[in-house]
Amino acid sequence: MENPACTTGRGLSLIDRTFSHDVCVVGGCGHVGLPLALTFADEGLSVSIYDINDDAVRNIRSGEMPFRETGAHELLQRVQGGKKPLRVSSTPEVVSDSKWVVVVIGTPVDEHLNPTFHAMRRFFSGLVPHLRDGQCIILRSTVYPGSTEKIRGFLASKGLDVHVAYCPERVAEGKALEELRALPQIVAGCDEEATRIASELFGTIARSIIHLAPIEAELTKAFANAWRYIQFATANQFLMIATDHGVDFYRIYDALTREYPRMSGLPKGGFTAGPCLLKDTLQLAAATDNTFTLGHAAMLINEGMPNFIVRQLKARHDLARMTAGILGMAFKADSDDPRESLAYKLRKILEYEAAQVLCTDPYVRDEALLPLDDVLALSDIVIVTAPHEQYRALQFRDGQYVVDIWNTYGKGTTFA
Ligand SMILES: NC(=O)c1ccc[n+]([C@@H]2O[C@H](COP(=O)([O-])OP(=O)(O)OC[C@H]3O[C@@H](n4cnc5c(N)ncnc54)[C@H](O)[C@@H]3O)[C@@H](O)[C@H]2O)c1
Repeated sequence: MENPACTTGRGLSLIDRTFSHDVCVVGGCGHVGLPLALTFADEGLSVSIYDINDDAVRNIRSGEMPFRETGAHELLQRVQGGKKPLRVSSTPEVVSDSKWVVVVIGTPVDEHLNPTFHAMRRFFSGLVPHLRDGQCIILRSTVYPGSTEKIRGFLASKGLDVHVAYCPERVAEGKALEELRALPQIVAGCDEEATRIASELFGTIARSIIHLAPIEAELTKAFANAWRYIQFATANQFLMIATDHGVDFYRIYDALTREYPRMSGLPKGGFTAGPCLLKDTLQLAAATDNTFTLGHAAMLINEGMPNFIVRQLKARHDLARMTAGILGMAFKADSDDPRESLAYKLRKILEYEAAQVLCTDPYVRDEALLPLDDVLALSDIVIVTAPHEQYRALQFRDGQYVVDIWNTYGKGTTFA
């Protein structure tokens, strides 16, 4: 549908005299919250951030990004030097004076891989004293299906007369600023008024808005992440099957996809990791009483990739006498985000199997990591786990065994 919102145009504010500020992004120092807060601020809205991460709050106040995100450093500098700099706080009082409260805190699964709805409820219990009648509370985190209506019921039970909506975030890390404006925004109010008010906010940045019911929007987000997770698992399983048949997957991949549009959706193999795809597939599994067999199968395949690599190495080398070097600890290329990275799982397995394991990454902050040159010089085997752009021009020593599951160098995985 056409954007129904009251679009302000850059530099104007959606003035509502009941509130002194437009938007408060709760969890606004995070990978999703900060680009969103900056994008609203760039539209001229007055934006607050409430986040419990003191270090990140300090960084942002002083104009420093706490993580890599394309274009965000420049935008942060511009916003902080402009008429309406971000107001960044590690205490929740700032929540009270904004018309829209966008909640984008993390929603990880627990140590048993179960969703943590109780954490969301606990979070809202703490927020209740800082919420005011008339505010619009927008859940932006990826949530367990049904959460939005439960939160609405919970807030109503506390006597709050607020509007509640679910507007899932769909950007990919590294492309957040571009995609926030390019992708349609899904707006799912618990009632018509909530939909209208939440659309007013997202209409300031979105080209178009898709309206759904909260449960539809929650499932839309869960399906999108599970679908991507399953697609990557398909590629990874094909890679394993090809290797077990003694051939290189990427020769087959080329034949499958070259000038053959029906296969254009097949991704390459690789480590499928990060803070979203696995945990959202597991949230969907929990929401189906663990009957989401495709999701569980995908988990076994994707999470099994490090084990697969080590098994292949053991079949070819005397691993126990060798030094293995891991290149790239981030969960994906050109990122500094190590959350749920399978490179760490690979390290753990290799620490058991190899004589020595050395790890490097140009972006991840981790004192255990070594400079790239040292890892290259000392390793008998090199495994490229995150295909950072700066690894593309690397020269390897003669005789150095390079595992390239991403086909970074166009020569295949090197297992065949
Ligand atoms: N990272 C992505 O690419 C991405 C994309 C789409 C959706 N999501 C979803 O967005 C949500 C946030 O993900 P993220 O990657 O930005 O996580 P993140 O950990 O980078 O950010 C979450 C932020 O919330 C803050 N926080 C946690 N508890 C808080 C509390 N009680 N009060 C105030 N602040 C609190 C944290 O300090 C952190 O800065 C998750 O539900 C995730 O699934 C993430």
